[in-house]
Amino acid sequence: MSDAMRLYGGTSRGRVTVSDLIAAKQRGERWPCLTAYDASTADIFDAAGIPVLLVGDSAAMVIYGYDSTIPVTVDELLPLVRAVERGSKRAMVVADLPFGSYQSSVAQAMDTAARFMKEGRAHAVKLEGGARVLPQVRAMTEAGIPVMAHLGLTPQSVHQFGGYKVQGRGDAGDRIIEDALALQDAGAFSLVLEVVPRELATRVTQTLDIPVIGIGAGNTTDAQVLVWHDLMGMTRGHTAKFVREYCRLSDIMMDAVQRWAADVASAAYPDEEHTYH
Ligand code: KIV
Repeated sequence: MSDAMRLYGGTSRGRVTVSDLIAAKQRGERWPCLTAYDASTADIFDAAGIPVLLVGDSAAMVIYGYDSTIPVTVDELLPLVRAVERGSKRAMVVADLPFGSYQSSVAQAMDTAARFMKEGRAHAVKLEGGARVLPQVRAMTEAGIPVMAHLGLTPQSVHQFGGYKVQGRGDAGDRIIEDALALQDAGAFSLVLEVVPRELATRVTQTLDIPVIGIGAGNTTDAQVLVWHDLMGMTRGHTAKFVREYCRLSDIMMDAVQRWAADVASAAYPDEEHTYH
């Protein structure tokens, strides 16, 4: 089967499940994960065999134009989750719990996750943090909500980190390993590991039984995730060192819109072929 036709993360019928992803790790099979925020792109990524679509709180920046992930709300993310679920057939849809929607208590996290599952039709949720969110992870897992954890450069803590800096160097790496193990014990079915040295990502990946999904964590993790705007060259200005653009969609769009605008101005569009009589 060509790569273009490949179904990553297993070939079972219906939606990709937690067990499919854990089985893929046991088989040593790596898989890709992408963000999605609308039905049209979800449809394309799903057809490309991407097994997990993450409706990330990165929507704060790439969809809503905020300068960090912190301002985005549950009410802003919910319609995006619904759209991605409707646009996809096979992928597991993971809803990111935004800043302030799960930290204050287990009850708050449960209520937010329930909204994403019931109103957004998400199949799993993601939250950021280690020891401080263990009660939330445990409670959600016990309630039947699959939880994706997130350690390393967790963007909701950018102000505490003092910027988007590499995390987990030196002794801080040991704390990440401890947190990762504790999250796994609390029931998390996977772990996003963001912007850490590859050596640490390798240790975490080898230590955990659940899949580790890297972003800026080198190539030894079980899976990779990217914000699709980074992958497709839709971001303007600075991009992180770990981003490889597979096309420059913003240039393609700029060219198309400029040609169309000029055709409108000259009445070359619509021509006979595109006109009803
Ligand atoms: O919000 C997001 O898109 C994320 C991924 C980049 C992991 O958290």
